[in-house]
Amino acid sequence: MTVRAYPVLVRIDIVTIFPEMFAGPFDASIIRRARDAALVEIAIHDLRDWTTDRHRSVDDAPFGGGPGMVMRPEPWFGALESQREQSPPGRAILLTPQGRPLTQAIAAELAAESRLILMCGRYEGVDERVRGLADDEISVGDYVLSGGEPAAIVLVDALVRLLPGALGSEDSTAEESFIGGLLEYPHYTRPAEFRGQAVPDVLLSGNHAEIARWRREQRLQRTRDRRPDLLPTDE
Ligand code: ADE
Repeated sequence: MTVRAYPVLVRIDIVTIFPEMFAGPFDASIIRRARDAALVEIAIHDLRDWTTDRHRSVDDAPFGGGPGMVMRPEPWFGALESQREQSPPGRAILLTPQGRPLTQAIAAELAAESRLILMCGRYEGVDERVRGLADDEISVGDYVLSGGEPAAIVLVDALVRLLPGALGSEDSTAEESFIGGLLEYPHYTRPAEFRGQAVPDVLLSGNHAEIARWRREQRLQRTRDRRPDLLPTDE
């Protein structure tokens, strides 16, 4: 038996009315490399492919009145039913500001799935019955985007970089912000002095135990100063 102690995410399907929004972000940097190395396969689907009318319409006026348009349920049900027919059926996630706030822990949890289906709706604009198609709802922060697409890009980036082999060095993710619940320590490179600002002596000392201690202290101090909400409470 093979025991996989690492994330196995292999496929991400994204359903959107703006497929063109993904071209830039998914064709550069870590995500590009991970796709080229077949660590992950990303497929973008146009929701309009599941419309049935001549105008390929995806929205309609809200019942009860009010401004704006609401995304109709039919194309979403068609899209999800067609996606679910494939194996594995995957975990469907609706990107919405009403979802669970994305954290590093949730990114790690989702990176361990073998297939995700990301549903990008327009905010204020998805028929409530569409929510029933999703297994989970994720928000990327307490602000409103014009649609789920930028949120899906954020989520994919956070997941893909956790896949083994996606980053140049395996321990790059081990020490960074939020791993262990703390922010990251400060980094420096050459020159040792720049415009009157010197690199802390300890980093030039070659004393690895001292450096490790300094970095631990910096992580704690930074977290206390900037994000005390991340520190465990003593209740
Ligand atoms: N769609 C609109 N705003 C969003 C947000 N903050 N997170 C996820 N999806 C969204």
